[in-house]
Amino acid sequence: MCTDLGYDGRMAADEKTYRWVNDGELGPGRMRYGADYNPEQWSRDVWHEDVRLMREAGVNIVSLGIFSWALLEPRPGEFDFSWLDEVIELLHAGSIDVDLATATASPPPWMAQLHPEILPQTIDGTVLSPGARQHWRPTSPIFREYALRLVRALGERYADHPAVVAWHISNELGCHNLYDFSDDAARAFRVWLRSRYGTLDALNAAWGTAFWSQHYTDWEQILPPRVAPTQRNPGQQLDFTRFSNDAVRDHLRAEAAVLAEVSPGIPRTTNFMVAQNVRDIDYTTWVGDVDFVSNDHYLRPGEFGRDDLSFWANLTGNIAGGRPWFLMEHATSAVNWREVNTPKRPGELVRDALTHVAHGADAVCYFQWRQSRAGGERYHSAMVPHAGPDSRVFRDVVGLGAQLKELAPVTGSRRERARVALVFDYESWWVSERDSHPTDELRYDVETLNWYRALLDAGNRVDVLPASASFDDYDVVIAPMLHVVPDALRTRLEAVVRGGRHLITTFFSGIVDEHDRVWLGGYPGALRDLLGITVEEFVPLLPDAPVRLVSGAAATQWTERIVRVGVDAEVLDTYADGDLAGAPAVTRRRVGDGTATYVSADLGRDGVRALIERLAADTVALQAHPLAADGRLEVIVREASEQRFVFLANRTDEPVVAATEAGEVEVAPRAVVVLAGTQVLTADPRREVVPA
Ligand code: GAL
Repeated sequence: MCTDLGYDGRMAADEKTYRWVNDGELGPGRMRYGADYNPEQWSRDVWHEDVRLMREAGVNIVSLGIFSWALLEPRPGEFDFSWLDEVIELLHAGSIDVDLATATASPPPWMAQLHPEILPQTIDGTVLSPGARQHWRPTSPIFREYALRLVRALGERYADHPAVVAWHISNELGCHNLYDFSDDAARAFRVWLRSRYGTLDALNAAWGTAFWSQHYTDWEQILPPRVAPTQRNPGQQLDFTRFSNDAVRDHLRAEAAVLAEVSPGIPRTTNFMVAQNVRDIDYTTWVGDVDFVSNDHYLRPGEFGRDDLSFWANLTGNIAGGRPWFLMEHATSAVNWREVNTPKRPGELVRDALTHVAHGADAVCYFQWRQSRAGGERYHSAMVPHAGPDSRVFRDVVGLGAQLKELAPVTGSRRERARVALVFDYESWWVSERDSHPTDELRYDVETLNWYRALLDAGNRVDVLPASASFDDYDVVIAPMLHVVPDALRTRLEAVVRGGRHLITTFFSGIVDEHDRVWLGGYPGALRDLLGITVEEFVPLLPDAPVRLVSGAAATQWTERIVRVGVDAEVLDTYADGDLAGAPAVTRRRVGDGTATYVSADLGRDGVRALIERLAADTVALQAHPLAADGRLEVIVREASEQRFVFLANRTDEPVVAATEAGEVEVAPRAVVVLAGTQVLTADPRREVVPA
């Protein structure tokens, strides 16, 4: 298990990763470019056309076989690899490498017919039927046996094929089946709890089962937190999330172990979903189980979409320990699973891809190569759309392929650390949004994104850092809504301030321990002494009832009654109206050269920006980067031993001029320019941007 994700933190097989990702031994090589490829949906003549078009676009890798189980094993134990052999040979002849899936993501219909007991159950006991995908229980021993048999057969067959350069384990593990409340899950949950707590006494204490007569006297009494008459035990819910995370990860481990045995020379990955859509997987606990990190990301439509993409790409890069990673899936244009699926605007296809590259991706791949004719995803965009290659999307795809070739020197470089860390804590995300809280309105990802955007607005470079990573090399550590603070985390935050550095945290932080039990003595509980304040009461706000602060900032959703400000702390802002008028709203405690700042209200993006700019007056690390052009550009740096690559990403729909070492560089609307010293690496960043 990975506990320390510092820049020198672990990830298996560093060398393999480099060789694989950029194909350049330990130096720069090729940017990888490609897609999920699903040839089984098409006839053989289309396969030939596909390889020709892939070469035209500069595609050099595809993920193959992701949903092919039913064709690879049409009947139990009867394998047919002939068509896959043929496709791999065809791709290989076209110099296109293969990230070969283990094909276990979606079991064939015969399996549910033979073994309905593999089907997952929802929280209310509904059995999920076959007919879509991922209809399997992560804890089913039967499913596991069938899956590993297929993995072994594939592993043995393709271990030495020169086209196969990576194993793609399953697909988006836990996307639809993370939570399973079946009896298999109940059994595995009990085993997991026994190993975590050892005794029922310890479990009863952790879950606070004295409340509502929940005291357990036999392990068999314990169930997953299924639908109940009213609020379910918070400790049980939290542990079930942790257990579900681990159960799906166990599946990853089981497949990885088979591949390590039969195909040890080929690195293994599985596509993470480090983004807002699957909240309850903590990928910092998975990273030690893959040879390189790969991630899927889908743009959220709306004016915040670009920054949101940057935020998750930034976090992915830090989960990967600063090393290059692989963008396994994103969309060339519209998806098909939101309420309204808008296409990307001109320029966005290239902008999105290069923003991922800026944050450390050495590969840019899409779901999927050719847009499906049938099936649930027929309206999802692809590299070759329904309209065919004579289309805007395919022209952009070819243009991006050319740009990625020019970016070859960037491959293998690492992200240069920023001076400011924005802490992202999975458990705080899970717990702060649970039921029976002071308000249902708070969203952890929205709060952290607000801070990220405000920092970019203020021209800062910032690393989105998992809470388990080392804070040692950051001058400023910002931890919004850090709700779950066990002792060890408290100590690490104290070290930031005692070491003469700066901590900024906000409302609803430091409130509970690792079992979701409240720290007593006044809020912010675990952080009260460090911050030098005491909060007596939460004062959440009703919708449309904002409160003003003396600085002019507007608080929405949340305020707090601070009743004590220690002698070494100062009040930076005060509530100006509402029930808290006159009470402190923002405080700062000085400890030697270090500071601990507390923001008790939800100030939104603008209020946070104003506060950052105010703190920047005496906190050099918060001052704007000279290339950020008033926050209109995001500045991201990747570094190799002898070179720095500066990415300037235009956050606006207007052209922005940056005064660089290379002279004035205009960054077109929605474009990304890459500088290597005085050289502009992306030849014509505007060539994809057609005026709207
Ligand atoms: C991902 C999945 C792909 C495809 C894509 C569509 O979740 O891995 O197979 O469904 O979404 O956006």
